[in-house]
Amino acid sequence: MKAIAEAPSKAIITGEHFVVHGAWALAAALPRRVRAEVSESHRISVTSDRFSSAEAHGLHPIIGVVEAMAKEFSFNARMRVSLRSEVPEGAGLGSSASAMVAVVSAVSRLHSLDLQPSDIIRFSMVGEREIHGNPSGIDAAVCAMGGVVLFRPGNAPKRLSLEGRRTLIVVFSGKRRSTKSQIRRVAAVKGTFPSFFGGLTEAASEVSLIAAERLAKGDMKGLGRILSFNHAVLSTIGVSCRSLDKLVDLVLSLGAYGAKLTGAGGGGSVVAVAPGGKEKSIISGLRGRGFEAFRAEIPVEGVKSWLNR
Ligand code: PMV
Repeated sequence: MKAIAEAPSKAIITGEHFVVHGAWALAAALPRRVRAEVSESHRISVTSDRFSSAEAHGLHPIIGVVEAMAKEFSFNARMRVSLRSEVPEGAGLGSSASAMVAVVSAVSRLHSLDLQPSDIIRFSMVGEREIHGNPSGIDAAVCAMGGVVLFRPGNAPKRLSLEGRRTLIVVFSGKRRSTKSQIRRVAAVKGTFPSFFGGLTEAASEVSLIAAERLAKGDMKGLGRILSFNHAVLSTIGVSCRSLDKLVDLVLSLGAYGAKLTGAGGGGSVVAVAPGGKEKSIISGLRGRGFEAFRAEIPVEGVKSWLNR
């Protein structure tokens, strides 16, 4: 018997990095997914269509997650886990959280554990901590719950109710980077300028609450202005880079209302919003210049799992 789960990826709309230091952040689940298949086996093994066997050590955090579940629920951790992903790694789109959430959910289905989203997030964080050091948990929360989520460490994530469907434009710069080193870079800024950083954290929190209001109402022009403002703040703390700044400018010159880096920065992706009539031409303009760009209709469903007998 096999259990299968599919989890969405995510884009942080506002508040990344500052969320690690206590700010509210806003994130949306994206329609690109990671699929995990698990079945009992004579040993624990993890394979992925994105890693060659020589790179399989990169999958070690998944083993930690399965072992943590096996210990808590007293089952045998020996199982075969196989992953298939539509989400590029190091692109700021939550590929690792999506994989963790899919694995936890599939293992839970295989053992009929009926886990709540809060437990799926808790186990996913075992792997997320191994990969990223000190993540806030926003990625795992949005990949598990789906939809659009306002998140702050220590608070229950709040699911936003949208009055209708909305569109985000997501474009990958092509430059991969490590979230862990970006988080460390920000911690160093905080250490050097604690009161300045404290002020920015409060501002970022406020920005996320306002962005949530605009998005819920469908005021995409207002949301766009907030995105561009948030990008400037992220540049101030050193997490943007020349190629991201150029990409943000390009998206704006193609007619977007606003754009910003999404996720850890230093490379990765840009998220933007645009007038309804412009989305198609913006995406084809980006693709024409060689970027991987896509349109994401939100809200998107959270993780789902099923048995295949
Ligand atoms: O780039 P990603 O998908 O790893 O997103 C990281 C988001 C951060 O705010 C930078 C870190 C976190 O854990 O919240």
